[in-house]
Amino acid sequence: MTTQTLKISENRLPSRAYFESETDTTVSLNGTWHFKYYDSPRRIPPVISDWDTITVPSCWQLQGYDSMHYTDLYYPFSIIPPHVPTENPTGVYMRTFDVADREHFNHLLRFDGVDSCFDIYVNNQYIGYSQGSRYTSEFDITPHVKEGENTLKVIVSKWSSGSYLEDQDMWWLSGIFRDVFYTKRPLEHIHDMRIQASPLYACGQGLLDLSLDLCLNGLAPQGHTLAVELTDALQPVYQGEFPVEDLHFEKAMTVNASQYWTAETPHLYHLRITLKKDGKALYSVSDRVGFRRITIDGPHICVNEKPIVFRGVNRHDVHCETGRTVSYDDMKQDLLMMKENHINAVRTAHYPNAPAFYQLCDEIGLYVISEADLECHGFELTHRYDWITDDPLWTDAFVDRGVRLVKRDINRPCIIMWSLGNESSFGRNFVAMAGAMKALDCTRLLHYEGDRDAEVTDVYSTMYTDLERLSDIGKQEALGKPHVLCEYAHAMGNGPGGLSEYNALFHMYPRLSGGFIWEWIDHGIKAVSEDGKTYYKYGGDYGEAPHNGNFNCDGLLFPDRTPSPALAEVKAVYAPVKVSYALEHKEWVIHNQYDHMTLDHCTFSYWVSNEKGHGPQEHFKVRDLEPHQKRRMLTPIVFDWTLSNFLNCIVTDHDGKLITRYQCQLSQGIEKKPSERIKTVPALKGKEKEGVYSIVGQDFTCDIDLVRGEITRYVYAGKPVMTKGPILNFWRAPIDNDMYLKKAWYDTYFLNLMSTDVYDTSIEEKRDLITLTIKSRCGAPNQAWYYDVTTTLSVTGKGDLDFDFSGHFIDPWRQFKGLIPKIGTTFAIDTHFQEVKWFGLGPEENYPDSCKAAYVDWHQKSVDHMFTPYPMPQDNGNRGETTAIQCLSDEAILHLRSKKPLHFSYQPYHAKMVERAQHLNELEKDGHYYLHLDDAINGLGSNSCGPIPFEVYRLKPRHFSYGYTLRMTLRNGD
Ligand code: GAL
Ligand code: MG
Repeated sequence: MTTQTLKISENRLPSRAYFESETDTTVSLNGTWHFKYYDSPRRIPPVISDWDTITVPSCWQLQGYDSMHYTDLYYPFSIIPPHVPTENPTGVYMRTFDVADREHFNHLLRFDGVDSCFDIYVNNQYIGYSQGSRYTSEFDITPHVKEGENTLKVIVSKWSSGSYLEDQDMWWLSGIFRDVFYTKRPLEHIHDMRIQASPLYACGQGLLDLSLDLCLNGLAPQGHTLAVELTDALQPVYQGEFPVEDLHFEKAMTVNASQYWTAETPHLYHLRITLKKDGKALYSVSDRVGFRRITIDGPHICVNEKPIVFRGVNRHDVHCETGRTVSYDDMKQDLLMMKENHINAVRTAHYPNAPAFYQLCDEIGLYVISEADLECHGFELTHRYDWITDDPLWTDAFVDRGVRLVKRDINRPCIIMWSLGNESSFGRNFVAMAGAMKALDCTRLLHYEGDRDAEVTDVYSTMYTDLERLSDIGKQEALGKPHVLCEYAHAMGNGPGGLSEYNALFHMYPRLSGGFIWEWIDHGIKAVSEDGKTYYKYGGDYGEAPHNGNFNCDGLLFPDRTPSPALAEVKAVYAPVKVSYALEHKEWVIHNQYDHMTLDHCTFSYWVSNEKGHGPQEHFKVRDLEPHQKRRMLTPIVFDWTLSNFLNCIVTDHDGKLITRYQCQLSQGIEKKPSERIKTVPALKGKEKEGVYSIVGQDFTCDIDLVRGEITRYVYAGKPVMTKGPILNFWRAPIDNDMYLKKAWYDTYFLNLMSTDVYDTSIEEKRDLITLTIKSRCGAPNQAWYYDVTTTLSVTGKGDLDFDFSGHFIDPWRQFKGLIPKIGTTFAIDTHFQEVKWFGLGPEENYPDSCKAAYVDWHQKSVDHMFTPYPMPQDNGNRGETTAIQCLSDEAILHLRSKKPLHFSYQPYHAKMVERAQHLNELEKDGHYYLHLDDAINGLGSNSCGPIPFEVYRLKPRHFSYGYTLRMTLRNGD
């Protein structure tokens, strides 16, 4: 019997905390390296003479080597662990670096991320090996360096046994993709440091507990001391100096630190520790310190003894040009954007990030679930999901990944949970890993969704749980541990819908500690088509197989980091100040959803608005309202009941920045009768010829195709206005969240093939008013169900068009079981009408289950800006609650007034074009714009990896009746 072991490292230094020392000389080895790519390590010749060059850090697939491959959970090779393909793409990296004072220093190399495994050589001598792609690996190269120029060679292979542990849903990318450093360190130094900083509430101070490992060049301490200095914005809050008796030093001290760290109050102190000998400074390190404590109190996760709610998001390291290589600025931009949008927590899905990421979170104020680089998802399909998870051969590899996670970032206050990994079933290796992690750090909580019974974790965790099930979980207080929704609200394409319902549950049940939206940013890769259009590639676009298509475009940001409309929704839903106005009681209800702050920093400004404008603003403050508490404030509002009025409130901070906004409708208004037609209205003439009924008035002509029941031409003042419409429409270009619904739409009901058949028309002609009544049936091939629709169109002498639609859903045999995309009508509009102005929800895209960021007012945009560029084109751009629309050309305005609030969108492309296009560059304009006017639309949901829209947002076929009026005016140079 052979006892197999897995090689996970050789000569790699044990992990230690990341901190900075001003005494060290640290040089970045980023930059241009020599590089040579082979399809297998076996092909590397003894001497390489024809080097290419490559940028470090980078992913070589994005530098012209190997090929791109995206899978969600498939391993792209046979599952025969720990064997990986012999044809194993391999890159040899080489560069030189300079060493001075060789003998008086330690010489170290540090790699912050190499995918997936690497050997290093210095001056052609083998130094060591490491795997664990998203971990830091350090090597001591002291015995191997020489004075002056040294060569460093790194041989990186794409596949290693570690690849079995790195089956995350993302591009398979390889190479030295994070920073590389060379450090020259004095022989006497502080090697490792643990800082525990916690609040002492009773005395308003802090407890600073230090534990250091020293290296004194192999000797015992003699005359050494450690000076500890803690400052708060340069003001000293603590100073002390202690004799060193042992290479391991521990000391706890009470310090004058009264400002505690939370994500809302990210107060950091500055710590500096100096190692001295006989009073002379030898070596200093510094770090930033946040005083905070994490506990579980009954059903709650608490920070500094106060329950917190995660308004979280999952974030991958990804960039549309550089793949997994992300710059400091990109990280910072991400985190600042999160903060600005009221996200208070981030899960480093699904691996540790670069050290700077955590420093930024400390500084900006975000709670972090830092996750181990560990996912074995593909095993799920072998029917032995726990194959390696429960195999002792792999225990060390699991434990290694847990230990390295904890050790490097142990001093970061932002990290409040460690996560054992993702989607890897459960088994003994997780038990071992959790044990090792707890032994290192019992001040933080452990998370792992795969530990369903929370056997080793401190919290229960689920993903994509629907509302009903989540409410049930909320009620199960007897289970003892809090619950975290580690992933929810799948933000793929257009969506997610239903965020506010989730957030409401988080605040309803103490056990629910909130959740983390999946995910922050799309993983699309930037490309430019031959005709110069920018678009984004996803799975399958590189000819790879198997792949998971655009399942990696599921973020709140587009691949280029511009926000998708979903981010505005996140900001509105996650806003920690909730405002509402109870009309019946004439009172404001203010809910403080911060965990550690009052609302003293908020200014509330409110006003009444309607279609005609905004009333004067009033302001108020809400003082001393404790976290999670509500306050009611009696404030009668004066407004005119006969008009449709809205009450608006914006909440701003000290700098005048918007925290959140609120709007409610105060009154519906009284419907005004259309003013009597005056006798002077010009006369009309109508005539039918070969199925087309033409109306000619003073300034316009209008052709109506009586076979199809549609206008085919409307010309006003000699200018074309529309060429088609109203087309009865029940279809939308499916969105990603229609992923499962659309199967029935296409294959069972042929909803995409619905067409209209006119079975009766009647025309009533008066001097200045012609009324057509068109009866039609709108159905689909081989379907017994259909809509029976009556369209009434009245045309006045001035050219006004008045439409009424009423439809009855007929389904004699109850054949139709599903949901429908929408109920509405569409017009093809002349492309001179480049701009649209509307009174309705806006300014950005909104859908019934994603409209918390929108408010009713007059908004204006160009037709191109009404289109949302999802990397995989799909239905977009809806605006709800709209009662007035103006399509504007330079010369004329097409006014639309709706008899009840409608959804509308104004699109530069035909819905079929949007449906057909797989990438943005494939979209082509066809000489028309499309105005969609919808009585109802289906919600978004998050069914691409979660629930369909919640019950109230589901659109089932139902009867309908709506109407609107169109009127043309000329702008006359307004
Ligand atoms: C989860 C998984 C994520 C991602 C997501 C779907 O199951 O943890 O990594 O695959 O689904 O986008
Ligand atoms: Mg997965």
